[in-house]
This record gives sequence, structure tokens and C-alpha cells, in this order.
Amino acid sequence: MKKIIVIGATSGLGREMASQLVKAGYKVGIAGRRSELLDSFVEEHKGVAVEPIEQQVMDVAATDAPSTLDKLIERMGGMDILLHVAGAGFENPTLEEGKERHITEVNSVGFVTIIDHAYHWFRTNGRAGHIAAVTSIAGTKGMGLAPAYSATKRLQTTYLSALAQHARMDGVRLHITDIRPGYAQTDILTPGKKYPAVLSPEKVARVAIKAIKRHRRICTIDWRFKLVVAGWSLVPRPLWERITFVK
Ligand SMILES: NC(=O)c1ccc[n+]([C@@H]2O[C@H](COP(=O)([O-])OP(=O)(O)OC[C@H]3O[C@@H](n4cnc5c(N)ncnc54)[C@H](OP(=O)(O)O)[C@@H]3O)[C@@H](O)[C@H]2O)c1
Repeated sequence: MKKIIVIGATSGLGREMASQLVKAGYKVGIAGRRSELLDSFVEEHKGVAVEPIEQQVMDVAATDAPSTLDKLIERMGGMDILLHVAGAGFENPTLEEGKERHITEVNSVGFVTIIDHAYHWFRTNGRAGHIAAVTSIAGTKGMGLAPAYSATKRLQTTYLSALAQHARMDGVRLHITDIRPGYAQTDILTPGKKYPAVLSPEKVARVAIKAIKRHRRICTIDWRFKLVVAGWSLVPRPLWERITFVK
């Protein structure tokens, strides 16, 4: 039975992925800041989980995040897959400084800290491992309504690419999967705003788990957002920077 740790499993995509993984028979460890939601996850999956679910309160941007992750790995009896879903943000049309900074801390410092610590764990233990992360299609272009969000998502996809190369140079047997969803119906979307082609968390989780099982390197969800990414990659920078998106 594979052991997977899901960071950011209290709500949205992470919670749904963790739920589907429990139902698929994985031994699952869950982490996030909101302890009451970790408790409710365990409660909801009583009778479904083949192995006990381990939980850990964790703030990925806090200095104790690596030691907190170690505690969870130890209680799990090791890990085969680290799945990083934790993330903050979305739109910030007024460029509120505190919000930009918070997004940057969670999506950059928090992301690098957890992914890097997991990498060292796999390398030290000398076993084949898998690091998967939910980034976003937002990382493929600078978004005027969400500068910190799109920039930090770019950092995440670049970091994963660099790590894939680094693992090969280091001789570490590591699979890396970068999951890039388009809009999905979770708390991260601005309430009351209409978004196109919104995906359900169930669908995103299903496709993402399939990609992890198949050791896919990059998985953009779904085909409509693949077209969007392909389309806007053709837009020259001077033109892109003149486009006005509706706030
Ligand atoms: N929904 C979308 O349209 C969409 C599209 C593309 C990519 N994504 C990405 O998907 C991921 C999940 O987002 P979501 O849409 O599912 O939104 P969500 O429901 O708000 O989930 C965010 C998750 O991240 C965790 N988190 C946030 N800050 C954290 C911190 N400092 N330490 C630990 N955990 C933290 C939250 O847990 P706590 O608050 O309990 O800590 C929660 O479990 C994010 O990385 C997001 O960028 C979302």
C-alpha cells in the first residue's frame, strides 16, 4: 500500500484529492493549518480508510514547517509520494500589499521549503520517490489581476523543472508531477464573480490522481484550459500587456 502525504488537505482540491486517495486504498497523511478541518476529514473517512489517516497541523510558511513534516512522515512510517496542494491567493486587483506578501510567502517560501525538504528526505532514504504539486495554468502568463499569484505559480513550475534536472544529476530516483488546473470551484475563487469553464474539484482530483499514477511530468486540466494556454502563449508580450481583463 502506497503512502502519500497531502499538504493543504483541509479544503478544496487538496481535501478532494485526499478523499479519493483514501477511497483508493492509499495510506494518507493530511496537513494544513485548520485543525478542525483535519479532524472532520478523519471523522468523515472512518470506515472507509483501510489504514488509519495521520494528520498534522502545519503552516508551510512557518519556520518549523520542515520539522513538522518530519513528524508526519515518522507517524506515517515513511512516504512514497509527497503531494503539495497548499496555496494562497487569487485575484488582487487593488494590489493590496499585505495580500501580495502573504501569497508570496505561502506559494514561494512555503512551497520551496516543503518540496526541498521532501527531496532531501527521498535522497537521504535512498528510495524511489514521487513529488507532485498543484500549481496552476496561471503560472504560464503574468496576470494583471493577480500578480503575486501568477508569479509565484511560475516560480513553482520552474522549481519543479529545475528539481527534475537536479534529481537526475544527483542520481535520485524521483518522479515529479506538475498539476496545472484551470478554474476550479473552490474557496480560492472570488465569491460572486463569474468564471468561464469552471471545473469541479472531483474532476480535477480524478484527473490529477491518474496523472500521478502514470508518473506524468505535466498535467494541465482540462482540455479547454490546454487550449487557453496554447492560445495565450502565441500572444506577443507587447500585445498581452495591453489587454484589459474585467475586474
Ligand atoms: N481553485 C482553482 O481555481 C485553482 C486553479 C489552479 C490552481 N489552484 C491551486 O490549487 C491549490 C488548492 O487551492 P484550492 O483551490 O483548493 O483552494 P482552497 O480551498 O482555499 O485550499 C487551499 C489549501 O491550502 C492550504 N493552505 C493555505 N495556506 C497554507 C499554509 N500557510 N500552510 C499550510 N496550508 C495552507 C489550506 O489549508 P489551511 O487554510 O487549513 O491551512 C487549504 O487546504 C492552490 O495551490 C491553488 O493555487 C486552484
